[in-house]
Amino acid sequence: MCGIVGYIGDSNVEKVLMQGLDSLKYRGYDSAGVALYDNGNIKVFKAVGKLENLQNKLSALSDDEKRASMGIGHIRWATHGSATEVNAHPHLSMDGNIAIVHNGIIENYKELKSELEAKGYVFKSQTDTEVVAYLIGDEYKKVGDLKVAVQHIIPRLKGAYALCIMCKDEGDKIVVVRKNAPLVIGIGNGENIVASDIPAIISTTSNIVYLNDDEVAVVKKDSVEIEDLNGNKMPLNIQKMSIEMDAISKMGYKHYMLKEIYEQPNIVRNLLCGRITNVNAPISLDEVKISRDALKQLSRVQIIACGTSLHAGQIGRYLIEDLVGVATEVEPASEYIYRKNTTDKNSLVIAISQSGETADTITAVRQAKEKGAYIIVITNRPDSNITRYADSILNVNAGIEVSVAATKSYTAQLLTLYLFAIYFAEVKGVSLDRLPSIKEELVSIPVKMEEVLSSDADIEKKAETLSKYQNFVYIGRGVNLPTAMEGALKLKEISYINANAYPAGELKHGPIALLDENMPVVSVLIPGHISYDKTISNCEEARARGAKLITITSSDDKELEKLFDVIIRIPVVSDMLSPLLAVIPFQLLAYHISNFLGKDVDQPRNLAKSVTVE
Ligand code: G6P
Repeated sequence: MCGIVGYIGDSNVEKVLMQGLDSLKYRGYDSAGVALYDNGNIKVFKAVGKLENLQNKLSALSDDEKRASMGIGHIRWATHGSATEVNAHPHLSMDGNIAIVHNGIIENYKELKSELEAKGYVFKSQTDTEVVAYLIGDEYKKVGDLKVAVQHIIPRLKGAYALCIMCKDEGDKIVVVRKNAPLVIGIGNGENIVASDIPAIISTTSNIVYLNDDEVAVVKKDSVEIEDLNGNKMPLNIQKMSIEMDAISKMGYKHYMLKEIYEQPNIVRNLLCGRITNVNAPISLDEVKISRDALKQLSRVQIIACGTSLHAGQIGRYLIEDLVGVATEVEPASEYIYRKNTTDKNSLVIAISQSGETADTITAVRQAKEKGAYIIVITNRPDSNITRYADSILNVNAGIEVSVAATKSYTAQLLTLYLFAIYFAEVKGVSLDRLPSIKEELVSIPVKMEEVLSSDADIEKKAETLSKYQNFVYIGRGVNLPTAMEGALKLKEISYINANAYPAGELKHGPIALLDENMPVVSVLIPGHISYDKTISNCEEARARGAKLITITSSDDKELEKLFDVIIRIPVVSDMLSPLLAVIPFQLLAYHISNFLGKDVDQPRNLAKSVTVE
């Protein structure tokens, strides 16, 4: 749906508006526009289609042409009138003196339009918004004060609206007003910003004011004043935006799960921030408190977790064994606690738990601690129960995860395990020749994740055709066996479809008996590793049994199209780092299939976000 942004201040106005609109894109839109105020002039730029089309137009202008001291921007999702440039916002009053952007619907716009037409006004667009621009323009001619003109016009509007309004003759302010449509004001230092949702504000300020229905705010560079429609001053209630507020809102996504899937690139970006400053310098991981000497002496690592966190741990094992060469076991916490295990003071136990409240994992950690092991806890909740037993806490900092099916916490756990494995290798002085290129590639992961997410619409279409199957087999090898397991778990959890993951090489040892045209086989194929050709052979075996074949691959080999029915391509990535990208199409497939089937995506039956019983 539509999104609006307004900015006044010394930063590059066009940039702030475009970044703001970019962060609201998820709401869905089909055209975009901005109005830039410069020294008594209002310049309007619009484009149909993607925001990039507007950006291209703006990029072709000189700095002089884009200069502005304030501006308003909009992404439009067509309601009144099709997606054309003329219908795109901002809209101007007939004399061009007033520019507005609008979210919502003016229900009585036809009557108002006829009234204005009777007065001789001629409209350019089919929108309800242009009627509001003309009305305010008409009133401004009488009262000569933008805020007062708005206060006079608002009572005439029926429906829902969030409006940002600028006037050629009043270059020091943006006037905003809302009713039944979201609008937030961000209070900056010598700059202020308004937007229909928090993401557009976060990069400017964390101080926010929520406007109430029918309050009119006059937003200047150094001040914000609020009045009701009768001109009575209203208090400015400034709140500190917390990460929780940001995380707990669905932000326009249909489900938390989808929002959380989309948060992954930024979570990885944040986690990398300050860790890898120079690929040739050691990684910085100060949270690991165990002394370098003690870490060097450790003879074994045990990773303990449940569910999705267990899959992250299984990938962690590959990383530690490959990069550090220390024997690593991974075990479900519910198995570890009932077994006579050999954990001792030379063991490093890594417990992974998103919630930090999972009873099995907590018991396992307590037992391991009693045996003298060194405990690292990887969690999204550094204040949770499990951390009481931790010697070191690695906070994955993914923000509150609301959807029961874990997505962003998984990639954040994975990233933390990559960082830890590299750190461990550096302390041990091993694999040093390989580490710079791994670090370099890690830094490129967020952008590649965004590339994967940009093919979401295509994955959604594929999911629709796949949603008719009742059973799936997932296969993977090496570092991507856990990816396949996580993909199958996601599908089971939220769509209740039977999906089982196997090591690709195991298919022929039993599961192949299940295969026929009703049992699709989903694989992960990453070139550059011996497992690539072997996995293709396993897929051919499945094809010979009539199974429909689906693959998630970073290969651009056209030949694959002959073998596979459905190919989901991800950017080129090394085998080692591929789990960070390959899991995203699995998450999206599960999400869309569940959504097509009308299941409760965020609250699947029988599952809880944190399981506090053993
Ligand atoms: C529950 C959740 C899973 C989660 C598992 C482990 O089963 O439904 O999504 O992976 O617990 O949770 P934790 O908080 O310990 O990572």
